[in-house]
Amino acid sequence: MPVISFASSKGGAGKTTSTIVLGTELAQGASVVMIDADPAARLFRWSQIAKLPENIEVIKSDGERAILDEIENASLRAAFVLIDLEGSASRLASFAIGESDLVVIPSGEEQQDADAAVETIAEVAREGRARRRKISAVVLFCRTNAAVKSRLEKHIHRQLVAATTVLKTELHRRTAFSALHNAGAGLRELDRSEFNGVPKALENAQAFTVNVIDILLDELGADADAA
Ligand SMILES: Nc1ncnc2c1ncn2[C@@H]1O[C@H](COP(=O)(O)OP(=O)(O)OP(=O)(O)O)[C@@H](O)[C@H]1O
Ligand SMILES: [Mg+2]
Repeated sequence: MPVISFASSKGGAGKTTSTIVLGTELAQGASVVMIDADPAARLFRWSQIAKLPENIEVIKSDGERAILDEIENASLRAAFVLIDLEGSASRLASFAIGESDLVVIPSGEEQQDADAAVETIAEVAREGRARRRKISAVVLFCRTNAAVKSRLEKHIHRQLVAATTVLKTELHRRTAFSALHNAGAGLRELDRSEFNGVPKALENAQAFTVNVIDILLDELGADADAA
């Protein structure tokens, strides 16, 4: 079953938030295991705040020696396996990327973010070469302004479009996304009287989920053609 890692060599890029968003949306129709592979364990902490649906399981990784078994076991029992990685290169991250069908690289719209995303794209390519298979990587812009883009922001987008696939959908900067870390569960469970912009955030989240599923389906098609 598809394994999707969230990676970026930059801390605070949006890995944990996008893991939560995709995981809770996929769980609307499928079983999901989310592996918290970051020693800071923010994803696991999120999972303890509110009751999650039965078809979501969040596990804390026991580290680089355990991750391959954890991924294999999770793949056997869930339709989707999501791995939230820490914000720096590590053996654990290499192992997880090497097992992934898709690596989502969250990025902001500053030069530092773009540089980190390019570095992470190169790392995914290296893992693919080492394993003699193509590992797809996509950039997901996070914390972006929903309004018109500045010249600098357009420039950053062009850089990343030249380097890899950039998802059409962005997770705009919205309180609803950051609130997930405190409220627990998913966007659908957020109290709309307490948090602004939940419907818009949910629109972003659904479009992001559709983008990811389309990419995975394309890959399946490509694999079938190659066989
Ligand atoms: N689309 C968004 N809108 C508003 N806030 C966001 C959004 N995405 C992320 N954030 C906020 O930005 C901060 C960093 O996000 P997150 O924890 O997801 O990044 P990370 O890449 O997992 O960081 P780390 O490398 O430290 O694990 C968090 O406080 C989160 O609430
Ligand atoms: Mg994180």
